[in-house]
Amino acid sequence: MDQVLLSVSYIIASILFIMSLRGLSGQETAQRGNLNGVIGMAIAVGATALSPSVHAYALLVGVLVIGAGIGAVMASRVQMTAMPELVALLHSFVGAAAVLVGFASYLGGAEHGSRTIMLVELHIDVLIGAITFTGSIIAFLKLRGTVSGKPLLLPGRHLFNAAMALACIGLGWPFLAAPGTEGLMPLLIMAGVAGVLGAHLVLAIGGADMPVVVSLLNSYSGWTAAAAGFMLSNDLLIITGALVGSSGAILSYIMCKAMNRSIWNVIFGGFGGDQPKATGPAAVPAGEVREIGMDDAVAELAKAREVVIVPGYGMAVARAQHAVKDLMEQLKGRGARVRFAIHPVAGRLPGHMNVLLAEAAIPYDIVLEMEDINDDLPKTDVVLVIGANDIVNPSAETDASSPIYGMPVLQVWNSKLVVISKRSRGAGYAGVDNPLFYKENSRMLLGDARKTMEEVVTKLKQHGR
Ligand code: TAP
Repeated sequence: MDQVLLSVSYIIASILFIMSLRGLSGQETAQRGNLNGVIGMAIAVGATALSPSVHAYALLVGVLVIGAGIGAVMASRVQMTAMPELVALLHSFVGAAAVLVGFASYLGGAEHGSRTIMLVELHIDVLIGAITFTGSIIAFLKLRGTVSGKPLLLPGRHLFNAAMALACIGLGWPFLAAPGTEGLMPLLIMAGVAGVLGAHLVLAIGGADMPVVVSLLNSYSGWTAAAAGFMLSNDLLIITGALVGSSGAILSYIMCKAMNRSIWNVIFGGFGGDQPKATGPAAVPAGEVREIGMDDAVAELAKAREVVIVPGYGMAVARAQHAVKDLMEQLKGRGARVRFAIHPVAGRLPGHMNVLLAEAAIPYDIVLEMEDINDDLPKTDVVLVIGANDIVNPSAETDASSPIYGMPVLQVWNSKLVVISKRSRGAGYAGVDNPLFYKENSRMLLGDARKTMEEVVTKLKQHGR
């Protein structure tokens, strides 16, 4: 394949990657976005394989077949809950690849343009690659539970991190000054120090906050790829790396904002270590909870014209999404307008609720983001909160001493009636009491979310019109 055709192929692949990201930003277009990404990647790999610099076809086909085979098996077997684990592992591959390509380019004497600039690019590539590699391995082990989720908070850890970062930069001087491949030793030492830095940064982060870290490592892996692109003079790698790097950074920022965290805490470590984090009866109830019986709850739902369902982590735990879909159909059949309200950090993964609702074939057009539904809640007859807690906690708006203060929440208390389906009065992920439970218009429907929803559906079917 000549250079012009190669460039054209790279431009087409880049456009497909941009279209893919655009598509993935909405549920209706996500499948098409995914397909664009797959086609773009096939073009990118095919064009690179046919480029004049590739000769070892037997080796290339061998590793492609093995790699694609392992990837296909892993992706088809992975459970939804183990997705962050898999993504963390894949990021570690990007980091490892960047480090290996960096060393191979150095030892192979690859040069283009100025040697100094090329060596600076190589140094940056190996530096970010090593941080991404070890950081992602630790994230993977923490998510699997192999390494404790408890943050490792060494005394003077920020100083330790700063010293390692300075050492990595400082080692650039002997590396740049060395002729030929004599800078191998400073490069190796720098890769080792950067590896320790990456591992230490992630070890300092609480296990339950790992989803934000995974998205941050996603961003690092993108920048690593972009640095490798500069080093190899490969425009496609630069574009793809920049797309991954910036989209990962934006997702990390959105998640931090939705959880009311500072991104700097995440980057510099120690994030998630100072918050009371445990699902369970940690909080001391500060009011009287009113329960509602099954028959009364069904009667309220049967007469409601406007219903909003707020799913949370408990719906995922109970696997109640299919029963929730049956409930939606029952209510619609009775002429009610039913919509779903999704908080950006509901559950434990970005998009957790959207995936579960899509799995139950709930139409996308009735699944609304928090900012699109909050204003409609005062006009809603019944809000049904299913296994959600922190995301509907009014103290996030009113109690400055609360750990979730400042986190935007779904203002369900503004509706006419709130029915909360959960098993107990226990707290949610943040471990704080929820004043929603004591509001005049709140009622608790106690029990496992799936069993409760199945019973509601059965009783609604029997309920007269
Ligand atoms: P939570 O605040 O964790 O509340 C979930 C509630 O579900 C619990 O209070 C629990 O109460 C109930 N529950 C558990 N199992 C249940 C079952 N089988 N049936 C019925 N209810 C059940 O969840 P949320 O409101 O979705 O908020 C998410 C939280 O996770 C936020 O604090 C967020 O910051 C955090 N977080 C989110 C992410 C992402 S990316 N989404 C990542 C990390 C952390 P009972 O025990 O009384 O049943």
